Amino acid sequence: MEIMYIENVTKIYQNGIISTPALQEINLSIEKGTFNTVIGRSGSGKSTLLNIMGGLESPSAGKVMLNDTDLAKLNESELAAVRRKKLGFVFQAFYLLPEFTLYENILIPTFLDEQEVDSAFIEEILDRLNLRNKKNNYPGQLSGGEQQRAAIARAVSIRPDLLLADEPTGNLDIKSGGEVMALLKSLQKEIGQTTIMVTHDLDLARQADRIIMLEDGKIMNKFSV
Ligand SMILES: Nc1ncnc2c1ncn2[C@@H]1O[C@H](COP(=O)(O)OP(=O)(O)O)[C@@H](O)[C@H]1O
Ligand SMILES: [Mg+2]
Repeated sequence: MEIMYIENVTKIYQNGIISTPALQEINLSIEKGTFNTVIGRSGSGKSTLLNIMGGLESPSAGKVMLNDTDLAKLNESELAAVRRKKLGFVFQAFYLLPEFTLYENILIPTFLDEQEVDSAFIEEILDRLNLRNKKNNYPGQLSGGEQQRAAIARAVSIRPDLLLADEPTGNLDIKSGGEVMALLKSLQKEIGQTTIMVTHDLDLARQADRIIMLEDGKIMNKFSV
């Protein structure tokens, strides 16, 4: 079953008289429960693709189907609701709120969505991420790897249909990057989390079910890594 389906997506950034084509006629389908990586040179359109899949940016043309909803047709508040309920985001910068503890940071999406806290599930995530004994720490008292794991815990805390991660290991050393990757893979295995991760690390990319390679805003179908 496919969870996301993208048809003829084009994105052109227009700044005054300068137009930059970032994506050109992208067609892509993502199967539920799969781990996907997106690779490609800097400027090839990876972040733009992820942002469009997550409803953070709208395409200039094309369809972006999340289950049966075309994100390109939604208004800002409808998009915000989809992001809050259906999607999890992890970025290269962790974006934890410094004045809240790790545990409080993880609960933010649950509160924003006015959901009951599923503390058993949160505790399970904390265990899996090896963060249980850090839950009362503030972000400033955590290592980079711990902060990124916390950001992932926050993103998956609402059991998103789709987890989107833009270079989540980009700011981490090899060991922490490996831990983050292991975590994302275990979420796939244990809770069937569908994930799309941008990375420039081919060793990490190779561990995916599928590698999507972008070049100049287009998907390359034939490549080897
Ligand atoms: N907000 C923006 N305004 C104008 N051009 C942009 C903007 N965001 C990205 N671009 C351009 O779109 C292209 C793709 O960028 P991006 O998706 O960030 O690539 P990547 O993540 O692969 O490095 C690049 O040429 C970039 O300069
Ligand atoms: Mg990028």
